[in-house]
Amino acid sequence: MSQKEFVKPVGLETPYRLFNLGGTAFVESKQGDDLDIMPASWNCPLDYDKMTVVIDSTHYSRKLIEASEYILLAVPGMGIQKEILYLGSVSKNDNPNKIADSGLKFFTLPDCDFPLPEGCSAWAVIKLIREPHNEKTYDLFMGQIVKAWADSRVFSNNHWHLEEGPDELRSMHYVAGGHFYAIGKRVDVTL
Ligand SMILES: Cc1cc2nc3c(=O)[nH]c(=O)nc-3n(C[C@H](O)[C@H](O)[C@H](O)COP(=O)(O)O)c2cc1C
Repeated sequence: MSQKEFVKPVGLETPYRLFNLGGTAFVESKQGDDLDIMPASWNCPLDYDKMTVVIDSTHYSRKLIEASEYILLAVPGMGIQKEILYLGSVSKNDNPNKIADSGLKFFTLPDCDFPLPEGCSAWAVIKLIREPHNEKTYDLFMGQIVKAWADSRVFSNNHWHLEEGPDELRSMHYVAGGHFYAIGKRVDVTL
């Protein structure tokens, strides 16, 4: 049977979901002692060392990001799935205690000003490249990766090997409404 038999039209209310299979990232922001963290699935590499991320203008994170001009992006694993959903469902605008209430734990590294969330596989400090038109019109932020770290159980020699690490570090791919996929099996393709 041809694949054509299974193909059905998709409505244009939320067609982005077709392409929303990229991994969910944490966006952490900080101004002085004021820390916030939110998941963002609308994140994308822009170049070898640059990232884009969409941060809605109503989010508490947004003012911290615009003021400090730095973010920490991280790749949360399935071991902290409840924390991901909580941090993406509750705004610090409504609950100043959001971070503590989420149960997310942090650790520090000597050469990083941001606390690093536990349960992630990778972390990067990003300095914003200001593009006011994109920020205002599309809530789209661009930035340069200035430092990066990864959990060596799942990423080393510049390559992922998630299948060798604990399942808790498998990345989470968000669709909508609490519906995620955890990344699946490795497939090596050769020509
Ligand atoms: C898995 C997931 C992914 C999300 N992706 C984005 C995103 O890409 N951009 C965005 O602006 N909000 C996104 N959100 C919503 C924010 O994370 C959410 O509104 C959060 O509570 C904002 O927190 P804050 O107001 O404390 O900054 C996402 C939520 C979830 C659960």
